[in-house]
Amino acid sequence: MLDRIKEVIDEVTVATVGSKDDLENFRLRYISRKGILNDLFEQFKTVANDQKRAVGQELNKLKTFTEQRFKDFSEELENATDDSAGSKLDLTLPVAPNFAGSVHPLTLTRQRVLEVFARMGFSHEDGPEVETDWYNFTALNFAENHPAREMQDTFFVEKKAAQKDDVLLRTHTSNVQVRLMERKKPPIRSIMIGRVYRNEAISARAHCQFHQIEGLYVDKNVSFKDLKDTLYHFAKEMFGKDTKIRLRPSYFPFTEPSAEIDVSCFICGGKGCNICKHSGWVEIAGSGMVDPNVLQNSGIDPEEYTGFAFGMGVERITMLRYGINDLRLFFENDVRFLRQFEGA
Ligand code: DAH
Repeated sequence: MLDRIKEVIDEVTVATVGSKDDLENFRLRYISRKGILNDLFEQFKTVANDQKRAVGQELNKLKTFTEQRFKDFSEELENATDDSAGSKLDLTLPVAPNFAGSVHPLTLTRQRVLEVFARMGFSHEDGPEVETDWYNFTALNFAENHPAREMQDTFFVEKKAAQKDDVLLRTHTSNVQVRLMERKKPPIRSIMIGRVYRNEAISARAHCQFHQIEGLYVDKNVSFKDLKDTLYHFAKEMFGKDTKIRLRPSYFPFTEPSAEIDVSCFICGGKGCNICKHSGWVEIAGSGMVDPNVLQNSGIDPEEYTGFAFGMGVERITMLRYGINDLRLFFENDVRFLRQFEGA
């Protein structure tokens, strides 16, 4: 019997365990009810009395040793990082937060602008981003070789024999004005929103792609006062009821007269801060009365109809609304940025 015990001790000494299955097999073979240890204890009952003491001691040693080995193997497996051991799974941990997507800040602005103008009776229209020179420039009263064409660094897709047929990426949403007037007869009251492209170096303040909101109102007797009232109402809805607007004379080929629209700074209330560069005012739009040439080019009689138009940058308005200081953030889709607009 002592020999058998020695044999088992040797066996247990060299045993190895690499997985949970191995561990279970070890347990079954040695420690379980039907295991070797139990057998040996059964046999122990038949050992002659004078040997009981010696054999009993060895048997107890084997038992302690085997149980210690089993404990060591269990701990080793527990600590192994290997997934197959399945030991690192803590089912009591709180569930990792599951973030739902959020509406992009540019979309938030777009939705709000459309909503405000919809209540004033403006429809929502769309137009192509790949455009001909005619709709982007010529029909809008940009004279051939007019320096204003250079102001908007254009991405050309295809140069044609005649300049007005050149294909390009639209540099503003004003192209849709002409397409709309060709298609519809006045009264026309529409908002056009979309992506535009300019060949600009990318920085915190400029990008080669951005979004514009275009507005057009053409009917009999539309006046400059209508333009002012409409934009004043818009500014109050968008930036708060105490907002004031200011018009500064400007120039655009497609409007005459033209004006730049400023709103009183809604951050400092006009007292002066970083956003308004201490002037109390921030510029938000270009605007003016539609030039008679543009109406003519679009098939609308300028003797019968007048209109106003305006254009503004979606990024610019969004930056002002949310105090964002870098244009590039809109296009990087960094979730740390986007998540800040959850529930906005
Ligand atoms: N298209 C002009 C731009 O991109 C913005 C603009 C100014 C649009 C005056 C208009 C307008 O409709 O009347 O700079």
